Amino acid sequence: TKVDPLKIMISGAPASGKGTQCELIKNKYGLVHIAAGDLLRAEIASGSENGKRAKEYMEKGQLVPDAIAVMMVKDRLLQPDSREKGWLLDGYPRSLSQATGLRAYGFEPDLFILLEVSEDILVERVVGRRLDPVTGKIYHLKYFPPETEEIATRLTQRFDDTEEKVKLRLHTHNQNVETVLSLYEDITIKVKGNAPKEDVFVQIDTALTKLLEEKKSALGSL
Ligand code: AP5
Repeated sequence: TKVDPLKIMISGAPASGKGTQCELIKNKYGLVHIAAGDLLRAEIASGSENGKRAKEYMEKGQLVPDAIAVMMVKDRLLQPDSREKGWLLDGYPRSLSQATGLRAYGFEPDLFILLEVSEDILVERVVGRRLDPVTGKIYHLKYFPPETEEIATRLTQRFDDTEEKVKLRLHTHNQNVETVLSLYEDITIKVKGNAPKEDVFVQIDTALTKLLEEKKSALGSL
């Protein structure tokens, strides 16, 4: 018998470092990283009707309707790789209906991670963020500048990464965070996200290692 794979949710304000930490978690624990925002941006890029509709909400920093978000995430979770390797859900659920929507399909996390970062830092992180369209890597002009000139010239910026739009996204986050947290109270860890990314990861890594050990010993005592 095998240890049941890890099922993790990670939440936090815009630019709190979810994507950055997910990359580190994925590298160490081999979980399938499912980012709601990335799924939506892929939908926009495909030119579909759902993508067009989603973009209208994303431009206003509002939540995309459940009919789009819930289905998209559920379909991804049902893929064989997520079931086999475990999953790391980034930026979902963001509302009560999204959480209950997932529950109805039988998806329950082992751990809910909340990244806590102060607001002044969030704005600085958003405006300095750049993405490499080739590797998908997340950079920051000040904190994680690109390694080569070649990468620097191809970096892109997200359409919702302006100071004005991050304030709208933050407002949406603040409106919903308490409700979502109350659903996962027993399995939540709050992580201090104001620190360098390696220090943030140490906090998460410690919790995940402990969780895996608990799963192993539960299996051993069967
Ligand atoms: P989404 O793409 O999820 O955006 P977000 O929640 O605003 O989060 P970000 O991706 O901006 O930030 P992050 O926390 O991943 O930070 P990162 O690691 O990149 O959602 C976008 C939109 O889609 C939403 O507004 C909504 O409209 C829609 N949507 C998404 N999910 C939805 C859902 N469930 N339902 C309905 N609609 C939904 O880091 C940010 C920057 O900081 C980077 O430059 C990074 O290099 C830097 N950085 C990271 N960590 C550190 C550190 N420790 N120190 C210094 N710099 C750091």
